Amino acid sequence: MSHASGRGPRVTKAVVPAAGLGTRFLPATKATPKEMLPVVDKPAIQYVIEEAVTAGLSDVLVVTGRNKRSLEDHFDRNLELEEVLRHKGDIARLDEVRASGELADIHYVRQGAPRGLGHAVLCAEAHVGDQPFAVLLGDDMIDPRDPLLSRMIDVQRRHGGSVVALLEVDPSQIHLYGSVAATPCGDDVLITGLVEKPRPADAPSNLAIIGRYLLDPGVFEVLRKTEPGRGGEIQLTDALQAMAADPSLGGPVHGVVFRGRRYDTGDRADYLRATVRLACGRADLGPDFRAWLREFVSHEMV
Ligand code: UTP
Repeated sequence: MSHASGRGPRVTKAVVPAAGLGTRFLPATKATPKEMLPVVDKPAIQYVIEEAVTAGLSDVLVVTGRNKRSLEDHFDRNLELEEVLRHKGDIARLDEVRASGELADIHYVRQGAPRGLGHAVLCAEAHVGDQPFAVLLGDDMIDPRDPLLSRMIDVQRRHGGSVVALLEVDPSQIHLYGSVAATPCGDDVLITGLVEKPRPADAPSNLAIIGRYLLDPGVFEVLRKTEPGRGGEIQLTDALQAMAADPSLGGPVHGVVFRGRRYDTGDRADYLRATVRLACGRADLGPDFRAWLREFVSHEMV
């Protein structure tokens, strides 16, 4: 049963797909999931899970693929390491190490083969059940200073159905994303169509889908019927297109346009930008690093 209209139940669960192959970041991702690459001193996926917890979603299901060991170990306790740090009196690091083990109520499900984001979401069905839920892509970082998820939760409470996060991109970049056709709806938009990675001429707009979704559980039924699309993968965008075209499948699809800072940490250049931006903003590293960066830019970037 889906909650096709009006206010649905509260979103309490987050699903974090982290089973992609990460080919754009090879060879670093040969034996490590890209979601485990550090941004300053924490793996990218930890920021994503912290974002879910900050928005009130502390039940987190991570969809893992091959090389899941490091991921599961990171969010588990490491008693031996804790003992060494305690013995040394390094309480600050001890707290950090414990924090990642106690961050959320984290569960795991295995995606046997990387058959696409839609398929990864389908792997979450048994855990999610019949409630709306959030999907946060494990390689898509929203700057912790720019809240997005809480805004999406508000929209979902008002309209029911599903909500996607959108970013205005340069039209020359839209072929890298899903693109939507949308009409204004208060501060947000009502989505009338979605296309995965369109050719620029076929893109309905320059509004790109980024890695935050609130989904009606009706999406599972739709995903089961979704044929492989772009790249031979089962695409979440295609399932959402079916739902936008027929709201009886799980209510309307709304969009929230995000104007803050966002990084695709699976892309090498964006990963570097994320590292520099976050390092500059850090109270411990920022002052020295900014001074070095200023020097570097004025003397070496000629
Ligand atoms: P991407 O398309 O960015 O992941 O998927 P990818 O396929 O690993 O990327 P490249 O192009 O090879 O570098 C977006 C998110 O969906 C997850 C990825 O881990 C990423 O967080 N995903 C993708 C899955 O969990 N399973 C899949 O089958 C595909």
